[in-house]
Amino acid sequence: MADTYFIRAEPLAAAIRELVRGFGSEEREVELVTDNLIQANLTGHDSHGIGMLPRYSQAWVEGGLKENAHVKTLMDGGALLRLDGQRGFGQVVGREAMTLAIERAKKLGSCIMALGNAHHLCRIGAWAEMAVAEGFVSIHFVNVISRPIVAPFGGSDARFGTNPFTVGIPVAGREPVLLDFATSVIAQGKARVAHNKGEKLPLGRIIDNQGKDSDDPAYAVVEPLGAILAFGEHKGYGMAVACELLGGALAAGLACGGPATGEKRVLNGMLTIILDPKAIADVATFERETRSFLDWVTASPPRAGFDKVRLAGEPEREWRAKRLAEGIPVDANSWNEILEAAARLKLEPAKINRLAGVKA
Ligand SMILES: NC(=O)c1ccc[n+]([C@@H]2O[C@H](COP(=O)([O-])OP(=O)(O)OC[C@H]3O[C@@H](n4cnc5c(N)ncnc54)[C@H](O)[C@@H]3O)[C@@H](O)[C@H]2O)c1
Repeated sequence: MADTYFIRAEPLAAAIRELVRGFGSEEREVELVTDNLIQANLTGHDSHGIGMLPRYSQAWVEGGLKENAHVKTLMDGGALLRLDGQRGFGQVVGREAMTLAIERAKKLGSCIMALGNAHHLCRIGAWAEMAVAEGFVSIHFVNVISRPIVAPFGGSDARFGTNPFTVGIPVAGREPVLLDFATSVIAQGKARVAHNKGEKLPLGRIIDNQGKDSDDPAYAVVEPLGAILAFGEHKGYGMAVACELLGGALAAGLACGGPATGEKRVLNGMLTIILDPKAIADVATFERETRSFLDWVTASPPRAGFDKVRLAGEPEREWRAKRLAEGIPVDANSWNEILEAAARLKLEPAKINRLAGVKA
């Protein structure tokens, strides 16, 4: 059996659509979930691509993820919105929440939107991209309600999730700046992908179940669990706390507060701030200063070991071009987990293989 399959985006999407239909999803949901996951793979974030589906299928069987659920407005204060994702697919309720908030920002110049109870919102950059496409700045603080997996700076066990932070900034006439990362030194899914490939991680990312440095990604994936470290020592840890308090305690009304319950669902709370630059600044000045700063910064001569200075968002665009041309790599273990998910959803794994063009 091949160690890695290279599957083109289209046949992979056909297979994933079939899998998502197994949740009982309406066709719009099938499209949104499939497209969002494939886009994560295309942008190089396999941690947040189709490899999430086995977890989603376990969460759905337990009742922690609801098919065909939609966002519900809990509070409408004009430029302030409080929304409930009703445990629906993040790919659906995240899009609906962002659509509502963007409409408000168009009318009012800004919108602060609090979203709670959304099942996994996946790549948070996808939501910033929606606002940036309208010319808006988009800022996101996100918490994760799942098994705690990240240790606080100075701590020896896991106390919270990989809490992503994201900022999208439009740049007139150019590609946007899109900063989008987990506040853990690696996203948990990156440990899962390394574990499935049988790879080790560099030291300084993971601690084992005794709180000691380890290169084994298993400590972030299977029992006995250790923890992933926060990025940037006390600074990244501080950002993770800000994400927990703003995305969790404030926006969702739910923060991490105890050991794992064993439930498979992954809930995200998200505080989103959308801002129309025209509403707060002289746009010509903002555009001029943005472009001149970005030119200045990227003109720095590359240091040994680097080919050039990039801006956030650029690597994802490079990955997308490469993977559209060459196909999406899916390691055999991850693909087997997808076939197991198909069986869990009462689908025929052979059909998934056939649609993807995988000869297992
Ligand atoms: N929904 C959730 O619960 C959840 C939790 C954690 C992470 N995530 C998502 O996981 C994804 C991956 O997160 P990650 O921490 O692994 O990302 P990462 O470590 O790959 O960092 C990605 C960010 O760094 C930028 N970047 C990368 N290389 C660069 C370079 N050479 N120069 C300049 N900028 C560069 C990228 O453009 C991007 O903005 C994100 O999309 C995040 O939203 C989601």
